[in-house]
Amino acid sequence: MHIKELREDILGVHEKVETLNGVKDYIFFDNAASAPALKSVYEKMEDVSKYYSNVHRGAGYKAYFSTEAFDEAREIVSEFVGAGDGDTVIFVKNATEALNKLARILSDRFNGGKVIVSEMEHHSNILPWKKHFDVVWWPVNDEGKLELTTLENILKEEKDNIKVVSVTGASNVTGFVNPIHEIAKIAHKYNALISIDGAQFVPHAKMIMDNGNKDEKIDFLSFSAHKIYSPFGSGALIGDKNLLDVNEPECVGGGTILFVSKEETLWADFPEREEAGTPNIPGAINLALTLKRLNYFGMENLEKREHELSKYFLDKFNKLNDFKLLGKNREEHYFSVFSFTHKSLSPFLLASILSVEEGIGVRAGCFCAHPYLTTIMNFSKEKVEEIKKDMLEGKIEKFPGAVRASLSFYNTEEEIDRFINILEKIEKGEIDTSKYRYYKEYEAFFPENFKFKKPDIF
Ligand SMILES: Cc1ncc(COP(=O)(O)O)c(C=O)c1O
Repeated sequence: MHIKELREDILGVHEKVETLNGVKDYIFFDNAASAPALKSVYEKMEDVSKYYSNVHRGAGYKAYFSTEAFDEAREIVSEFVGAGDGDTVIFVKNATEALNKLARILSDRFNGGKVIVSEMEHHSNILPWKKHFDVVWWPVNDEGKLELTTLENILKEEKDNIKVVSVTGASNVTGFVNPIHEIAKIAHKYNALISIDGAQFVPHAKMIMDNGNKDEKIDFLSFSAHKIYSPFGSGALIGDKNLLDVNEPECVGGGTILFVSKEETLWADFPEREEAGTPNIPGAINLALTLKRLNYFGMENLEKREHELSKYFLDKFNKLNDFKLLGKNREEHYFSVFSFTHKSLSPFLLASILSVEEGIGVRAGCFCAHPYLTTIMNFSKEKVEEIKKDMLEGKIEKFPGAVRASLSFYNTEEEIDRFINILEKIEKGEIDTSKYRYYKEYEAFFPENFKFKKPDIF
């Protein structure tokens, strides 16, 4: 693998931005939110788009082309995640839609009941379960990690009453990685199904849903294309067709049926019955092309490179005094996602300083994981009440949280150096933070007299 070749395939990797300190090479450390597109795939899409047509319904070469490409995209996704023989790939718009779809289908299947959800989850893997089931929480330990013995104890206590265990493959806050096959084995032992939120796992490591061991098989996987270098509105829910086959789809219409009469509806088979209306055909093709390209480099190689960068990042970060990482004891099982706080500065102010002074894009806040942040940041009950009050009053600047730097294989040691350098400057008091104020209209801090240039694209 050639790291240089990889980096050059990232669209926008050489963009420059205006900062308070002149024009600088932009550093993108917000890959966990949404990852940039691949240049080679983007160029290929121009060719593919010349043959764009709707799928399944048209006659003529373009319809044939699009249908074949769309169907093959499904196979590529299935292969990429190591799906099993009985698994189907349903294209959706993102992981959130996939998880909502799954929770709704399974609640029809089981007529509600109890589901275990971990405390480490993103809201998209909490709220759909809360809506359709009674949630039993799997708490994290003092380090912010999940323990298998805790899960097994809950399952034992609940005596075969748990229908599903839904857990993330990796945290979008701490980057901690969960042993998904071991979790599957425990869930299955107690007759529960296993759903993995793969939004933060699939972009970082080789996913194998079916590793050949029936007990360890991942029953359902959800992920978003935009987090895996294909930001064009696609995503997938993958799972056992027989387990998903319940009653009728929620969203109905064109594409979901075999036959409709005035009296009767004959539903189509999977996956079509869960893909109502015209699907996002270019999104699915772009995703498949991207996955092929990532496979060319090898997910194992990308994971190795990200680990190298993570070690480099941590070596430097751990020498800082005023900054603290969320989650404790990073051993081997973490991805390149780091959330941290400063001893006194607001995370939103920190994020602004990084972007305005050095041209670094990160994220600040609670990362749609309020239960996890509440625990790992030790918020008291009183603090939670205060936060809720501030939110209701629209005082976003007072909202607590952390700054998240999420790195990808294409980032570099030099970029990390620039990032650490600005944190060091903050530590040494070399950045005048008093010149920043909070602007409600942008929901962000900016120095007086500094504004981003408005994009002129339309
Ligand atoms: C772990 C995790 N799950 C689910 C989601 C939801 O993804 P999307 O917004 O693409 O639906 C995210 C998004 O950040 C995430 O990090």
